[in-house]
Amino acid sequence: MNEFKYKGNILYCEDVSILDIVKDYSTPFYLYSHRTIVDHFLKIKNAFSAIDPLICFSMKANSNLNICKALLNEGCGLDIVSGGELYKALKIGCPPSKIVYASVGKTEEEIETAIRKKIFSFNVESIPELIMIDTVARRLKTKPRVALRVNPDVKPDTHDYITTGTKEKKFGIDFKTAEDIFDNANKYSNVSIKGLHVHIGSQITDVEPFITSLKKVLDFVEKGNIGLEWLNIGGGFGIMYHDESAKTAEDFARAIIPILKARNLKIILEPGRFIVGSGGILVCKVLYVKTGVTGKNFAIIDAGMNDLIRPSLYKAYHEVLPVAKLDTTSLVYDVVGPICESGDYLALDRSLPKLSSGEYLAVMSAGAYGYTMASNYNSRPRPAEIMVIDGHVKIIRRAETYKNLIAGERIIKELK
Ligand code: LLP
Repeated sequence: MNEFKYKGNILYCEDVSILDIVKDYSTPFYLYSHRTIVDHFLKIKNAFSAIDPLICFSMKANSNLNICKALLNEGCGLDIVSGGELYKALKIGCPPSKIVYASVGKTEEEIETAIRKKIFSFNVESIPELIMIDTVARRLKTKPRVALRVNPDVKPDTHDYITTGTKEKKFGIDFKTAEDIFDNANKYSNVSIKGLHVHIGSQITDVEPFITSLKKVLDFVEKGNIGLEWLNIGGGFGIMYHDESAKTAEDFARAIIPILKARNLKIILEPGRFIVGSGGILVCKVLYVKTGVTGKNFAIIDAGMNDLIRPSLYKAYHEVLPVAKLDTTSLVYDVVGPICESGDYLALDRSLPKLSSGEYLAVMSAGAYGYTMASNYNSRPRPAEIMVIDGHVKIIRRAETYKNLIAGERIIKELK
């Protein structure tokens, strides 16, 4: 289900005209469809129901409290990567038994808080981290659960920056080292190592890499005698931004379930993008249109790489649609932001209806890794987040103000 559709010439979010929303709220803003997000969670839940997994939404994709809460209300748990995400998860009442914690660089303080809060498990990425968790656990006289994150050395077809499961990357532990850890588990007597975790990357639109990596992990499980209780198979399910032949939740489930089914392991999934990616858009306004000396048309908009960095950082494709289709002639544009860098664009060489100042555009599929990666670069306040829920238009995060920009700064006395 995708609830961003045209009715006539106007783009709607669910049953609300986006042209009406821009009358009340200034651009740029992120706009989410509650129905789409819940629907995508339920798609995964239903597709994998035969193995009844714990689905932990990967907060890094979108950590707005309301979006996470909407998912918790459906029974979802959370995958966190920092003390900040733990704080937010607990703020909205996520049961600690539904929180899993990955990251190659957990600090001692973060580890201590997570142990005290009794999260379900740490996904451990190195021996020094395991030693740190063991040491903190001994001090706190508890025995937290940990899963070893293994690196299966599988290369999916995705951007290098979001490939995580190949051996030259910083993530996880190779099988040999993992075997040594299990063989010497008595060295880490303050932790219970009863899980394995694997996450090979993000925006993976094929099933094969998942199959290959899970087979490798299960071979490892079968060879050793490690008394495993759960297997966390990570996230990474890709979505359709452009012309990818992305798979449905059923496609992923059909490939993955048979590999896992007979194993009698509790399964955890950590999808992020699949749940929220197409559930959000970035709405912006055309400030100026200009034609360069080469004849190239630039549509200069009021959102930039600080609001949505994916095109600049990964050369990612996001579809751009006019909120109102006004003109029937089309022209090719670079859709660019106001930031002082040539890499500041949202879309290149796009055919769009002829644009004029004041028209609104929607940058599609911006619900995942959009706001969470936004910054204040060029001293630009971050945009608002708005959600359509049950026919209502709700602000779920105010736009930042100039005051917010300087909230943490002070002119020191030496400079007064
Ligand atoms: N689990 C772990 C351990 C992860 O590192 C990630 C994502 C996920 C789950 C969720 O992956 P997903 O289902 O969303 O693919 N900023 C990049 C994506 C970075 C992904 C980082 N890890 C982007 O905009 O494409």
